[in-house]
Amino acid sequence: MRELPILAEAGQGASHAGIEAKGLRIGHNGGALLDVAHLALTGPGPTMILGPNGAGKSLLLRCLHGLIAPDAGTVRQDGQKLGAAQRARQAMVFQKPVLLRRSVAANLDYVLRRRPLGRAARKARIAELLAEGGLAGKARQGARSLSGGEAQRLAILRALAAEPRILFLDEPTSALDPAATQAIEMMILRAARRGTRIVMVTHDIGQARRLGHDVAILHRGRVVEHGLAHDLFAAPQTDTTRRFLAGALVI
Ligand SMILES: Nc1ncnc2c1ncn2[C@@H]1O[C@H](COP(=O)(O)OP(=O)(O)OP(=O)(O)O)[C@@H](O)[C@H]1O
Ligand SMILES: [Mg+2]
Repeated sequence: MRELPILAEAGQGASHAGIEAKGLRIGHNGGALLDVAHLALTGPGPTMILGPNGAGKSLLLRCLHGLIAPDAGTVRQDGQKLGAAQRARQAMVFQKPVLLRRSVAANLDYVLRRRPLGRAARKARIAELLAEGGLAGKARQGARSLSGGEAQRLAILRALAAEPRILFLDEPTSALDPAATQAIEMMILRAARRGTRIVMVTHDIGQARRLGHDVAILHRGRVVEHGLAHDLFAAPQTDTTRRFLAGALVI
């Protein structure tokens, strides 16, 4: 595996929480669904995770977010083992948005109620979030009646409402058209600029080029390569990455 170079770029990324996995392993039938010796996300990000179906990308995100306890290994956020306090500073958006059977605004309010905010402050924050996601006219609509792209934007807004230091996104635009994809990419970039670490799975290599600061390639549960996006796309170091980027079938 290629080690990530030090990503200190004139103070950039200083505010992004680091996340580091060591010796992560999820075994299955004598083999391993996930076997990540070391993955350190310490640069400014966004980090793009690429790899074929079944490579372990979703499993890796779930482990990094503490939704699955691995059979072995540790995940640390800013040097601290992942515990309740660390997890509270992280959020995850799933490929299929999970929304409450309530209005768009009520979905956001649900998250904001867990924070020490008064009614007026919550209302103002909801308006801000709706504007951020281009959903200002949809506050009262039932969340379940949103289009796919709108629902995904609301799911991202819900994650952002918690003001996470780290945001995991699992294929957030896989079923969306170019306009909806662009709207979500802009939201992701704005969150990254505000200091949220973005760790995102995508099958869209163009998107990884557009958004990625660094890229990790997963294959059969292993990180076969992790490097700066520019370097990795220009000069992939492993045969698996070369074949994957060339659009060859990597099984
Ligand atoms: N609970 C489970 N029990 C057994 N196998 C599992 C479990 N969860 C995931 N797997 C297997 O682990 C492997 C990795 O799954 P994962 O969902 O992480 O893949 P992925 O890289 O996200 O793929 P995709 O691109 O299709 O989303 C797959 O072979 C999957 O079938
Ligand atoms: Mg997946």
